[in-house]
Amino acid sequence: MKILIVGSGGREHAIAWKVAQSRKAEKIYCAPGNAGIAEYAECVDIGAMEFERLSRFAKEKEIDLTIIGMDDPLVGGVVDVFEAEGLRVFGPRKNAAILEGSKAFSKDLMKKYNIPTAAYENFDDPKKALDYLETAPMPIVLKADGLALGKGVLICNTLEEAREGVKSIMMDKKFGSAGNQMVIEEFMTGREVSVLSFVDGKTIKIMTSAQDHKRALDGDQGLNTGGMGTFSPSPFYTEEVDAFCKEYIYQKTVDAMAAEGREFKGIIFFGLMLTEKGPRVLEYNARFGDPETQVVLPRMKNDILEVFEACVDGTLDQIELEFEDNAAVCVVLASDGYPVQYEKGFEIRGLESFKGRDGYYVFHAGSRFRDGKIVTNGGRVLGVTAAGRDLKEARANAYEAVKWVDFDNKYYRNDIGKAIDEVS
Ligand code: AMP
Ligand code: GLY
Repeated sequence: MKILIVGSGGREHAIAWKVAQSRKAEKIYCAPGNAGIAEYAECVDIGAMEFERLSRFAKEKEIDLTIIGMDDPLVGGVVDVFEAEGLRVFGPRKNAAILEGSKAFSKDLMKKYNIPTAAYENFDDPKKALDYLETAPMPIVLKADGLALGKGVLICNTLEEAREGVKSIMMDKKFGSAGNQMVIEEFMTGREVSVLSFVDGKTIKIMTSAQDHKRALDGDQGLNTGGMGTFSPSPFYTEEVDAFCKEYIYQKTVDAMAAEGREFKGIIFFGLMLTEKGPRVLEYNARFGDPETQVVLPRMKNDILEVFEACVDGTLDQIELEFEDNAAVCVVLASDGYPVQYEKGFEIRGLESFKGRDGYYVFHAGSRFRDGKIVTNGGRVLGVTAAGRDLKEARANAYEAVKWVDFDNKYYRNDIGKAIDEVS
């Protein structure tokens, strides 16, 4: 099969690496890709939002399956454009990607179908939102409705902060049109777990669990980022939690989307919070997590192209997902200053250390070629993943491997997976 992957981050690198192992893969392209992805795929200079150019390329090259990694093109309707051209594509259509694209939509869906989530109200008028805050309990959570690079959520401890938050989201449009509507919701406490799943419109198959670390600094301090590191599996995702989610969350979400005439095919990423009252949905995403993918796919035993095809064909019920009985940890190496301001263009040294070392992976998040060298090209630069027999071993291996690579302004968190210590 000829495959096209759309995206340019660590997630797409992990997908490309996994696709390259498929016995069905003959040729892989990636648009636009990065210097790491180039090891497995021919990178083509087409942006992820250039739908017409992408579909023309897929036609010209007779691509058998296109895999969309990123949220923006999915929410923007890239799948519909491909399908209109008769092209096979993995991902939800625009009317289903709204599950991630609009938080107001996803909250209303959960309410309508009794899927456990935080209590909330939606607002499209800042004045009404401000009035609502006057009697609301603090802390409270404000969410811009649309996509905001994972940064559109504000947790406010005081009424004053919350008022400022409403102003910045809805009036100053800090997150652009994503703030035309907003959700105000109950603040919950508990441990967070990411669960990714494959969905074919009817059947859902759950992948192994993972946990992200969203804040920039050790001890979960600092600003929210795209994700600074992950581990898999989550020891907090017990059989009891799994049974609850299977009964009240996963299949119900797929059925709810179908009942709404929004058949979902692709990846549903459940952002869960394990509260005292049981698991609750924090958010849905309509694509693989980044950097969750970098710890989940290295543990997956299946041929991923078979699973992608089963989702597109509606035959996922015939697939049994299998994962290694091991663990993996990913530490993100970022440019110092991320997520606010950082420099790019520094040479990355030591990448060859990963060659031929089983169980060690370096996934590129932001890199490019310059004069025959690979240089930094983003806030998140690399995701260093290591496997191990258990989480502790995987973490020790990952922190060993982060020393093998170097670039100016290299920054990473030292406490990825620290929560593991609480359970052993
Ligand atoms: P989201 O983009 O919806 O996943 O939100 C980003 C982060 O904000 C989550 O990973 C949580 O850490 C936090 N968060 C979101 N909603 C809530 C909530 N209702 N209560 C507490 N924390 C929340
Ligand atoms: N790691 C969180 C996300 O991909 O949204």
